Amino acid sequence: MNNEHLIVKHSPPLSGTVEVSGAKNAVLVIMASILLTRGRSILRNVPGIADVYGMAEVLRSLGAEVLFNQAHHELIIDTTGINASTIDRALMQKMRASVLVMGPLLATQGNVSLGLPGGCGIGARPIDYHLKNFATMGVGITYDNESVIAHAQQLRAARVVLEYPSVGATENILMLATRISGITEIINASLEPEVMDVIEVLKKMGACIQIEAPATIRIEGVTELNPIEHSIMPDRLEAGSLLIAIAATGGHIYLPNVDRPLLDVFLLKLEEMGHSITTDGNGKGIRLRATKTPCAVSFKTAPFPGFPTDLQSPMMALQCTAEGKSIIEETVFENRFMHVPYLQKMGAKIEVHGNKAVITGVVELHGTSVVATDIRASMALVVAGLMAQGTTSISKIHHWRRGYDGLENKLHSLGAHINLQDSSTTKNCPIIL
Ligand code: EPZ
Repeated sequence: MNNEHLIVKHSPPLSGTVEVSGAKNAVLVIMASILLTRGRSILRNVPGIADVYGMAEVLRSLGAEVLFNQAHHELIIDTTGINASTIDRALMQKMRASVLVMGPLLATQGNVSLGLPGGCGIGARPIDYHLKNFATMGVGITYDNESVIAHAQQLRAARVVLEYPSVGATENILMLATRISGITEIINASLEPEVMDVIEVLKKMGACIQIEAPATIRIEGVTELNPIEHSIMPDRLEAGSLLIAIAATGGHIYLPNVDRPLLDVFLLKLEEMGHSITTDGNGKGIRLRATKTPCAVSFKTAPFPGFPTDLQSPMMALQCTAEGKSIIEETVFENRFMHVPYLQKMGAKIEVHGNKAVITGVVELHGTSVVATDIRASMALVVAGLMAQGTTSISKIHHWRRGYDGLENKLHSLGAHINLQDSSTTKNCPIIL
């Protein structure tokens, strides 16, 4: 699998209609939340991405039965046989999102032990906000070598103040609080759409959760949560990536299952570039008709509803051949410009000053061999490859497989010259775990 490459060639205007897949950043936390229940839950619209298989492996290591029918995007999780609360280190390294099992396991088993999640390309990604707020809720935290061990000594409802609206910390604290008697409040919580999706799931399970302005989540603990059926929300990041690919080639696209409010600030920036965005009425369905003479735009990433950090790198690629200068400020992760050297290798004019990048549009990029450094960087390189003269070969595309469900096939169906040079034996096929 490690020898796989994405081969991308200069492509004509892409056009067509695409149903985006279920959201990676919703399905992973929802899979972890199922640990709060005992019995058989069914998730639908589940994307066939490597991270889903990774999280399924984590759940099975705890004793759950997991059946994933990729062809039908249906995942069945039976937690009746849960009998463990330790995640081994290797699994943790492979699957950072495993940290999201902490809240559910503390709530149901009273303890959890897992390897400290390593950083990744885009930053150190510590879990201090998770741990210190668990301690506020009566959880004892100790360390053993590279592992963290958490015990629910005397769980108590608390007023938790997040210094930063961390998505993962909000989700972990929220899941633990659903089973603690009393009222827990999370102040300065993350209210990303994916957090709202897991809140919908928890309410289906029987949790009592309210959201109060400006960003407070109020949870009244209950004694039991029940198995559910749920369809995962559409992936706004895949949607944004597809829109950028269309804009990059001057084409047009219709995304019937994505609503404008999921991407308002991002769409505003596409319109500032000169691209036309319309919807089917009441914000449902997104249509983009690209301009052939895009202007460069500047933006800074921020928690929802701000510009999503996960669209920063593909949007930077789009600025490389736009008219004028773009200033991009990355405020969420401390090292999320690793795609820059590869865009520069393709001819882009980019200067980096700390967490700001200044892009001056050039007439054209040229294809060459490049390396994907994280999920979203792999999309940035595909966008650049679609625009560049010649052929671009992208390696280390396990990142691509982690986050996008057959996106190369969707792009190909829109007219893109893109294919997976698959030097391994595995093919995309329905996998039953
Ligand atoms: C989630 O990561 C997403 N992953 C990320 O998507 C996304 O970029 C990020 O939220 C921001 O929207 C999943 O949902 C699986 P954070 P998460 O906690 O929860 C710092 C993608 O490409 N921080 O909101 O890890 C952290 O280092 C991925 O799909 C602490 O310092 O993000 C970062 O700088 C990438 N201490 C900032 O906060 C903590 O305890 C935001 O992190 C936790 C976070």
